[in-house]
Amino acid sequence: MSGVQLVDVTKYYGTVNVIPPLNLSFDEGEFVVIVGPSGCGKSTTLRMIAGLEPVTSGTIQIAGKDVTWARPKERDIAMVFQSYALYPHMDVAGNMSFALRLAGTSKEEVTRRVRAAAEMLELTEYLERKPKDLSGGQRQRVAMGRAIVRDAYCFLFDEPLSNLDAKLRSTMRTELAILHKRLDRTMVYVTHDQIEAMTMADRIVIMEQGHVQQVGTPREVYNNPRNLFVAGFIGSPSMNFLDAELQGDELRVTGQGFDLPLPPRLHEAVQGQRVRQVIVGLRPEHFAARHAGGGTEASFLAPVDLDVKVAEYIGSSQFLAADIGGRQVSAAIEVGPDSAPLTSGTYLFDTNRVYLFDKTTGDAIA
Ligand SMILES: Nc1ncnc2c1ncn2[C@@H]1O[C@H](COP(=O)(O)OP(=O)(O)OP(=O)(O)O)[C@@H](O)[C@H]1O
Ligand SMILES: [Mg+2]
Repeated sequence: MSGVQLVDVTKYYGTVNVIPPLNLSFDEGEFVVIVGPSGCGKSTTLRMIAGLEPVTSGTIQIAGKDVTWARPKERDIAMVFQSYALYPHMDVAGNMSFALRLAGTSKEEVTRRVRAAAEMLELTEYLERKPKDLSGGQRQRVAMGRAIVRDAYCFLFDEPLSNLDAKLRSTMRTELAILHKRLDRTMVYVTHDQIEAMTMADRIVIMEQGHVQQVGTPREVYNNPRNLFVAGFIGSPSMNFLDAELQGDELRVTGQGFDLPLPPRLHEAVQGQRVRQVIVGLRPEHFAARHAGGGTEASFLAPVDLDVKVAEYIGSSQFLAADIGGRQVSAAIEVGPDSAPLTSGTYLFDTNRVYLFDKTTGDAIA
């Protein structure tokens, strides 16, 4: 099997189990993003794929070969580390070309690849500088350059954009996606930033404390989160969770300050159920101003009263910190850049977008 496979991989540090049996399979040429909170085991997983950290048990395959005990340089991978170390005595060009020169690549080819990478990384004018004369973000880009000049079977990135400012980060996201299209190589990218995951990934792996919570395309994990953890992690601002009563007979969910009909996709799952305690999930972006649609309110839009505490202007939308029945929620309302600050009153919620979760297990009801 080509691509990258982890089969029953575990990792213990002493007696501490940081990776319980982990099974993952990445297709050849796929861009996979592993996302999760700090300490969940992302770097450990990546370092085990790279061969920098031995597994405690299980096997790893790259390009159809069992590499579980192979040395890093035998794995045909290029990696950007979370804590990158550049060679201090070499300039930017020297750092970027080191692996190529070591591999005996021709001078012309080295120059060509370093130039192309430097251009993409906006480093062309720094090629002759030493790392100590660069900013943190520039150094991080050099570390990235060292990897992308290589032609490896698999590229591993550990939070490669964390030191860049917001604008450069967003440019680099696009550049990486373009690079991936061009190289058509398997890329495994680790981050705690769900926006990076959503924008770049073919598939996202969401991890929590070593456990895989869900694997899916950005659309799948956003539209059909499997549980409360995924629902709260994917999406920005985060999904609101409110205690509620599921009225299965009436196909409604009610709680303090709201009463919402359930969308058709949930009917089968709840039909016949009597009153039951659940958690309802409402994404901020699925609220709307009352007359957003020019006065005609479609039937799937239900009224919800918001007691607005703060309205933040962010251009074409406003972010609201508000209360529903005394519980704090956030709402993102598209109202256009010239609108006045939004105030308390009746808003609309897109009931096709109502999520339900089992209160005890946290699993999505679907
Ligand atoms: N050498 C080590 N010895 C003991 N425990 C370790 C060691 N390295 C990592 N850990 C622990 O393993 C867990 C996973 O760490 P890891 O670095 O993989 O997390 P991460 O998801 O990359 O986090 P971050 O987003 O902060 O980089 C953490 O609880 C960490 O404390
Ligand atoms: Mg890490």
